[in-house]
Formats: sequence, C-alpha cells, structure tokens
Amino acid sequence: MNELRLAPFQGITDVVYRNVFRKHFGGIDKFYTPFFTGIQKDNSKSLRGEEIDPAHNDLNRVVPQILSNHAEEIIRFANQCKSFGYKEFNLNMGCPFPRVANKTRGCGLMAEPERTTAMLKEVFEHIEGIDFSIKCRLGYYNEDEILSYIDTFNTLPFNEIILHPRIGKQMYTGEASLERFSELLPLINKTLVYNGDIFDVEKFKRVQSVTQERPVALGRGLLTNPFLAEEIKGIARNTNEKKARLHNFVVDLYVERLRHAGGSPKIIGSMKELWKYMMNIFDDPQNVWRKVKKVNHLDEYEESVELIFNEHNLL
Ligand SMILES: Cc1cc2nc3c(=O)[nH]c(=O)nc-3n(C[C@H](O)[C@H](O)[C@H](O)COP(=O)(O)O)c2cc1C
Repeated sequence: MNELRLAPFQGITDVVYRNVFRKHFGGIDKFYTPFFTGIQKDNSKSLRGEEIDPAHNDLNRVVPQILSNHAEEIIRFANQCKSFGYKEFNLNMGCPFPRVANKTRGCGLMAEPERTTAMLKEVFEHIEGIDFSIKCRLGYYNEDEILSYIDTFNTLPFNEIILHPRIGKQMYTGEASLERFSELLPLINKTLVYNGDIFDVEKFKRVQSVTQERPVALGRGLLTNPFLAEEIKGIARNTNEKKARLHNFVVDLYVERLRHAGGSPKIIGSMKELWKYMMNIFDDPQNVWRKVKKVNHLDEYEESVELIFNEHNLL
C-alpha cells in the first residue's frame, strides 16, 4: 500500500487542522507544515509557537517546511528541527506566487539551477542526523528546467523529492502532467513522490499505475474530501456515517481554532478557506458556499454550518 502524505497549505493545514484531522480521519502517514520563513536567529519567533512545538506535533509524522534561498537560514532551521526531535525537514521549491518566486524563492529556485545547487550542497555539508527533502515543480518558466536538476537530485543525499508536475507560471491552471512525471521517474535515483490533482480514488489509481508503490501526496483533494485517504486505503465507511463524521470534524476544528485564538472571530477566515474546498463534497456546492462566504460573526457562522448539514447531503 502506498504511503499517503498531506501536502501543506499555508493558512489551512496548520497544527490545529493537522491534530483535529488526525483525531477524526485516518489514512495519512505524513504531514508537512505550511512553510516557515524569517529564521534569522536560533530562537526565531516563528519557531517558538505551537506550529513546530514538539509537544503539539507527532515527531514521527510531521515534517516542518521552510521557504528560503539562503543556505545559512536553511541550516539554522534544520538544526532547530533536529533539536526539537524531528526526523526530516523539507525545502519549498514549488511556491508559484510571483511575490515569492520573483525573489528567487519557492518555485523561483527552479529557474536558477547553478545558484540553487550550490546552496543545496552547502546545506548538506553542514547538516547531519536529519533527513532533507524538497518539494518542487517541473520548473518556473518551462517544464524542462527540472532537467538541469537531475544531477543535483541524484548526487546529493535527499531522502525524497516531492514533485508537483506543473510549472510555476501555470499556478493551478491546466492539469498536473502524469506523463512528464512518468518520464522523469527513471532519471531520478531518489524516492520521487507524486503530488497533483488527486480528487478521487479513480485518479489515484491512474497515478498509482505510474508511481507503483511510491508514496503519494494528496492536496486539495483531501481538503475537499477528508475521507479521501481512507477511501484510497479501502477503510471508508457508509455515506450516512460519513456526514455525521464530517459534521463532527467541522465543529471540532472550529472549536479548537476558537480556543487557540482566544475566541477571536478572525478564525472564520481560515474556516472559510477550508470551506472553499470542502463545499465541493456537498450536493450543491454553490449553495453551500453562499451560506458561509458572507458570514463575519461567530453566531452567524455556527448557524450557517448547521443549515449546511441540515439542508445538504454529501455527494
Ligand atoms: C492556498 C494554498 C496554500 C499552499 N501552501 C503551500 C505551502 O505552504 N507549502 C507548499 O509546499 N505548498 C503549498 N501549496 C501547494 C500544495 O501543497 C500542493 O502542492 C498543490 O495544491 C498541488 O497539489 P493538489 O493538486 O493535490 O492540490 C499551497 C497551495 C494552495 C492552493
């Protein structure tokens, strides 16, 4: 059975989501944190919160991710992760947003193979006792940029490479190219983890025909349908029970988010981000979305969620 991972989503799959998800659903073997930035010193503020605190994370299943183009910062992050007890950390080489990529960060690194390879080598020279993985796309401007990285991927000791087979300029348009992924598989001697556009078991099976037993990372498909990993692993149950389980999850996530935010209605924002995906598991997604999109107060939000579960069924 393929190991399944949950790809990171800034603003959605934070420590609260990951822990509530694990309480309610099975099937995910590894979780990545949304990216950390600004690790200017050892005791950086961003590394002092629950997001990375080992007391709130399963060290065997959670992989902290960094967005950076500085070897020194990445090494500092790796050492911090190691001292917390994490087994692996991950470098984001896939974020396609221009304000990130134009500063040669995230997917922007894909267009600068020489500079990036030198940076990666420097990182490996200074870390030990922690695995280093990357998450990348085919390129930023074109899908052949990754070819300049084959040698880097094969010679440096990455424990794995997660590949979302789109280019950065595409953002999320078009389709992730399973064909391109399958052409690259025999060229790369590290574990290549597929990520992209898996929204149902059927698509997973098509991906699996290429990736075989290798791990696969789920993204928007799992945010939309939190049962997806269970369905893929054949451990999902019947539809009525599913609706009750989803309802419990949504309420629990809301309550936990509120608790963490000291009761602030700001958390409605992150619940809405999730609903943008989750609405698609209901029979009338637009109607579901209309019920949450304009809500600004906690009582309105709670009422809307009850209406959704009373008036709609899961697909
Ligand atoms: C709102 C949003 C936030 C994301 N945040 C991150 C992130 O912090 N780190 C990262 O590596 N990828 C991030 N991604 C990319 C996803 O992890 C994933 O690679 C992408 O959605 C493709 O997989 P999918 O087609 O299965 O959704 C983000 C994507 C979206 C839409």
